[in-house]
Amino acid sequence: MSETFELIPETSAAEREVADLMPIQAERGRAERARDSVPLWFHTFALSPGVYTPGIARDHVYRLPLLHADRFVGRSVLDIGTFDGFYSFLAESLGARRVVAVDNEQYVSWVRERFDVTLPGGAGFRAVADLLGSTVEYRQMDALDVRALDERFDEVLCFGILHRVTNPIALLQALADVLSPTGEIVLETYGSHLPGDIRAIDVHAPGEVYPRDSFLYWGFPAEGLRQLGRIVGLDDVAVVSTTEIDGHPRIMATMRASR
Ligand SMILES: C[S@@+](CC[C@H](N)C(=O)[O-])C[C@H]1O[C@@H](n2cnc3c(N)ncnc32)[C@H](O)[C@@H]1O
Repeated sequence: MSETFELIPETSAAEREVADLMPIQAERGRAERARDSVPLWFHTFALSPGVYTPGIARDHVYRLPLLHADRFVGRSVLDIGTFDGFYSFLAESLGARRVVAVDNEQYVSWVRERFDVTLPGGAGFRAVADLLGSTVEYRQMDALDVRALDERFDEVLCFGILHRVTNPIALLQALADVLSPTGEIVLETYGSHLPGDIRAIDVHAPGEVYPRDSFLYWGFPAEGLRQLGRIVGLDDVAVVSTTEIDGHPRIMATMRASR
């Protein structure tokens, strides 16, 4: 039986809008070579005027309220599940004093399963870091192991990953343990159509949300997320927004210890 794979989607106008937050302005030939050196991009980057990487992420415009420079200037940032690193490089460009980007490169397996593409781990990240002359430190490691970094961070970016780990409490606890005393987790994850005021979490079957994606386990309504925050000692949870993108609910929040 022949397998059918998904076609790599066209980059959306919305993703180009997000990419334009960080125009890289590389020389055109260099930008095109960097773009073409990576077999599949998750993030869309504006490498040079008119040269964008063809990112498959659909629409991150709704994340813009989380991405003001005030959040990053002079701060240390940990970006977990960085993939091609857009949010790490953005934090650096907005004035973060140190950025560490972590990914266990789980995407290598789902990119193969969904698109039949062999993507070397970290390829997009390295290509963009090189163009930018970036000092973001990349670590191939599991987000559950971030205590081993032996470092505290002012901002922990946890975008697009909480719904993909089997133990979301363990992940949030690991992140809470590496926060500086005034630090916060900035979180974006899969939302839920359950009522926002009930302390619940949706449980998804493999492939139910995206065909061939067996790593999307959970959907979080607001009160479920607040309760997870309380469990890991981050009782000041502000739900920034709940929204629906291409038929998928998303939720954004900040979590910190109350002061
Ligand atoms: C959907 S992508 C999100 C990328 C980026 N954070 C964003 O929101 O645009 C999820 C990323 O998390 C990574 N990931 C999943 N589970 C992980 C884990 N336990 N530790 C580290 N990275 C993980 C995947 O490899 C992938 O790069």
